Amino acid sequence: MDLSILVIQGDGIGTEIIPQAQQVLRVVGRRFGHTFSFEEYEAGGAALDHTGAALPEETLAACLTAHTVLFGPVGGPKWDPLPPTERPEQALLTLRGKMDLYADLRPIRMFPQLSHASPLLPQFAAGGIDLVLVRELTGGIYYGSHDIRLHNGQSVASDIMSYTERQVERVARTAFEMARKRRGKVVSVDKSDVLSCSRLWKNVVCRVAQEYPSVQLNHMLADSIAMQLMRNPWQFDVVLTENMLGDVLSGEAAMLTGSIGMIPFASLGNSTEGIFGPIHGTAPDIAGQNIANPLAAILSAAMLLRHSFGLQEEADAVEKAVNRVLDDGYRTVDILSAGCVPVSCSKMGELVAGAVLSPQIYRKIARGLPAPATASGKGRSTQRTGRGRRQKEKEE
Ligand code: IPM
Ligand code: MN
Repeated sequence: MDLSILVIQGDGIGTEIIPQAQQVLRVVGRRFGHTFSFEEYEAGGAALDHTGAALPEETLAACLTAHTVLFGPVGGPKWDPLPPTERPEQALLTLRGKMDLYADLRPIRMFPQLSHASPLLPQFAAGGIDLVLVRELTGGIYYGSHDIRLHNGQSVASDIMSYTERQVERVARTAFEMARKRRGKVVSVDKSDVLSCSRLWKNVVCRVAQEYPSVQLNHMLADSIAMQLMRNPWQFDVVLTENMLGDVLSGEAAMLTGSIGMIPFASLGNSTEGIFGPIHGTAPDIAGQNIANPLAAILSAAMLLRHSFGLQEEADAVEKAVNRVLDDGYRTVDILSAGCVPVSCSKMGELVAGAVLSPQIYRKIARGLPAPATASGKGRSTQRTGRGRRQKEKEE
């Protein structure tokens, strides 16, 4: 299969993590007999600096004809003073709208190897986390008019939130379809005790639910689910939310899994077209140091294979490779714990790519690294390295 992917690396750590996802896709191609071709375009802060626009015409036109876009995080302090409509983030918002990608899937899954990194107490973290947040992506307050004006001598700001029935209906269907393939439960989130948009949301979701008698629907107010996610995240299967609440709640939910550096997104519409990437931001504080965690970007490549190209086995191979590398104790700093081996962003990419390709190649790459000191280093030497020992002693 010839598979063409449009790549926007983005800003900050985007230029470090996205190439790792590309590397993994290339080896998927080698192993499964596909040819990936990457066309690179600019958007976000880099595009602003070079062209004066966060989403240059050329990038927009290319995205509209592309089938699949791999998108790194955009933004950074340098562009913060700009008004919202001119900021790097606007590139993503415009693309979502123009490509009509109305449903954002955010799988909030804890890798058991990282349960120690979760803020949950160990006895709770051991239960794992596995829910999918379905976020409406092309409506609501992010797409209303934004205004700041002077009124009676003081600044007054407004942002308009609106939803149409159709917008709610279609994303609700995505959530119910998803639940049908999972554990059959949808929790729809709203603020119907205050907002008109939420009352419409709730009514439409109830109506769509009638088409899915095998799926159990519950409703939760946004402030309530913010608590419930901390108290009992295991009650959730599919969480359906509008745009802004989905943005906020996905950050909260991601943290339960240990690191936002592990969570990918897939922005989808009515077809197999989509934008894929990590849900985290550009992390300007660690950019340029080759220490960022590329796993969310790599896992977004798995989502891309599955959703955009229907390549299930290939997607599984990527996820399996990530598991293998974590099993063996390799960690970027954000998920590092005692006894594990710290690796750079590029080394993590190399390890996952190696694990996708073959056990021999993987072992060869791993051979150059210190052995992990924990039992999680399954099948490898348990000999402690100097660094591992120091860390372990510190913890003890
Ligand atoms: C996300 C991001 C975007 C959003 C920004 C970059 C516009 O935070 O995908 O969560 O808020 O939707
Ligand atoms: Mn966000």
